Formats: sequence, C-alpha cells, structure tokens
Amino acid sequence: MKKLTIETHLEVFETFSELPLEVQNLMNKAQQARENAYAPYSHFKVGAALQLASGETVIGNNQENAAFPSGLCAERVAVFYAGASYPSAIIKMMAITARSLKQKVTTPIPPCGACRQSLVEYEVKQNAPIILYFMGESGKIVKANSIKDLLPLIFDSSYL
Ligand code: THU
Repeated sequence: MKKLTIETHLEVFETFSELPLEVQNLMNKAQQARENAYAPYSHFKVGAALQLASGETVIGNNQENAAFPSGLCAERVAVFYAGASYPSAIIKMMAITARSLKQKVTTPIPPCGACRQSLVEYEVKQNAPIILYFMGESGKIVKANSIKDLLPLIFDSSYL
C-alpha cells in the first residue's frame, strides 16, 4: 500500500480592489446576474459570469423549481448557455458571487460538486484551463487557476 497525497494551490485576494480590473468588471457582471436569480425557495442568490476568448461575456444565475432537483445552479446555467450560444468558444475565466436574503455572506462560495464536474468538461473540450474567481457578497475572493484545482481525480471522456 502506498499513500497518495493530492495538493491544491489557490490564491486569496483580501479585497475587491486588489483584483485586476478585467476581473473586477467580470465580477460586477456576476453580481448583476446574481440579483436576477430566481431563488424563491433557498433565498440564496448566485451569479456567474464567463469571459470568452472572443471578448463576449455570458452570464447565468440559479433557477429554482418547486420540484427542487429540477432547478439549476448559476454556474451550469452560464456554462450551458455558453455551450449553446457559442459552441466553439474558449472560456477564459469565470466569476462567481453569492448573496443570501437571510444573512450576510462574506465567505467565498465555491461551485458545488456537480458544477465542478460540468465545468471541467469544458476545460477538457477546449484543452485549456478556466480561471475561476469566487466570492460571497463581500469579503475575500478566491482564485483557482483551473477547475481541476477544485476537483482532483476528474472523471472525463478518456475513461469512456
Ligand atoms: N447554487 C448555485 O447556484 N451554485 C452552487 O454552486 C451552489 C448552489 C444554488 C442552488 C440553489 O438554487 C441555491 O444555490 C441553494 O443551494
């Protein structure tokens, strides 16, 4: 038996103004998208914005449903919309922000496991990493240089 250690490296920005300007702009778009989330059940609004290599921006927000599992997270709404609208797009960067109507969210909110799996599919497809920035409503911002940094041991098409 041999032990396997998996390490990940993330960067943490203490304040919004520390972010490069293009990231601030993308996060602003994610914040706008977040406010349009349809979250009448959780009251937890999430916004995502994707920067495509072409210069286009694609946004998404969570869309809930009375039949709970029929809803979808902001990140998947964004990435599927990008896939549907710009099938050969290269996604350079994604910004995510969350706000609760019940309490102040100052912890950076990472994408859920299912979203990580959905996102990594596009890294494999485009053969290039997607840089991810995520935050709450305010507070620190976390940067990952690849979705793979949040999802070790990915399941991808190479297994099929
Ligand atoms: N949610 C997202 O939009 N993204 C995530 O990665 C985590 C959770 C949404 C789903 C649901 O509408 C609400 O947040 C509470 O789970």
